[in-house]
Amino acid sequence: MSVAIAVDGLVKRYGAVEAVAGLSFSVEAGTIFGLLGRNGAGKTTTLECCIGIGKPTSGSIRVLGLDPTQPRDLSGLRRRIGVQLQATSLPEKANVREVLELYAAYYSIPPRVKEMAERVGLADKLDRQMAQLSGGEQQRLALALALQHDPDVLFLDEPTAGMDAFGRRILWTEVERLRAGGKTIVLTTHYIEEAERLSDRICMVQRGKIVAEATPADLVAEYGGAATVSIAADGFVPGAALEALGTWTRTGAEWKLATTTEPGLALAAIVTHANELGTTITALDMHRPTLEDAFIAITGETIQEAAL
Ligand SMILES: Nc1ncnc2c1ncn2[C@@H]1O[C@H](COP(=O)(O)OP(=O)(O)O)[C@@H](O)[C@H]1O
Ligand SMILES: [Mg+2]
Repeated sequence: MSVAIAVDGLVKRYGAVEAVAGLSFSVEAGTIFGLLGRNGAGKTTTLECCIGIGKPTSGSIRVLGLDPTQPRDLSGLRRRIGVQLQATSLPEKANVREVLELYAAYYSIPPRVKEMAERVGLADKLDRQMAQLSGGEQQRLALALALQHDPDVLFLDEPTAGMDAFGRRILWTEVERLRAGGKTIVLTTHYIEEAERLSDRICMVQRGKIVAEATPADLVAEYGGAATVSIAADGFVPGAALEALGTWTRTGAEWKLATTTEPGLALAAIVTHANELGTTITALDMHRPTLEDAFIAITGETIQEAAL
């Protein structure tokens, strides 16, 4: 296994604001690394430093062995990385075809207009001007622009923010295809589901710091808490066999089991027991720990800011 990206002790300050407060991580070649965190956590700033747009206050970064803070390294790096930023400003009057051609010229490669447009679901919009594309369509075009020169490493900053379900599906499918093709991808997101589905490893970022890093499954197993099964049924009491499954608590008519065993099996045993008691079940629920539970346990907050 080789390391494609190594970030060590990255700090980035904007005046008094410490946007990134000492981040270290490394990304293995051919894997997808997700930076998951709230708005303002420092994800974009980290990405900008990795691609040579932002200059670190301190710390070191290597991408494919090259240092993006060194102009000489950066010019070589530019051809080998693809970048989809949150906001890409494109010439308003140009259409999709022209923008793809323009980027191909920048990289001195033959344009792959039709292929790229098909990959991001824009094949029927080649003559659309930028100003007439929806936000989601512009983001899909930005992905096509990041991919056209076939880079080894991709940086995707909130690639589906504001996209509808259709756009999100196209983008996820394309990212999965890139993974299958052996590309290395760093992705930032504040969508739990997106991080969980796409990332081989997830790094949770809070106020410029890493608070956890592992595979999605390990994060859930370690921090997600117990699975629960709850039941409301007149006259229900868990017998000795059910008590062995975990910890029971009672709130009014509802009994709740917190268990580290498979909750589906616990649920079946509970229903069987309720039937044996001859009770009528009025409510039944099961919850498996999720990555969101893990995020809340680790950061002490939800990923979305509470609605005002
Ligand atoms: N150019 C800038 N000048 C001052 N502060 C900035 C600048 N860019 C980002 N910040 C601040 O740095 C912090 C991290 O921002 P950012 O990296 O964009 O977070 P994220 O991408 O996780 O939402 C925020 O507090 C943000 O307001
Ligand atoms: Mg951002």
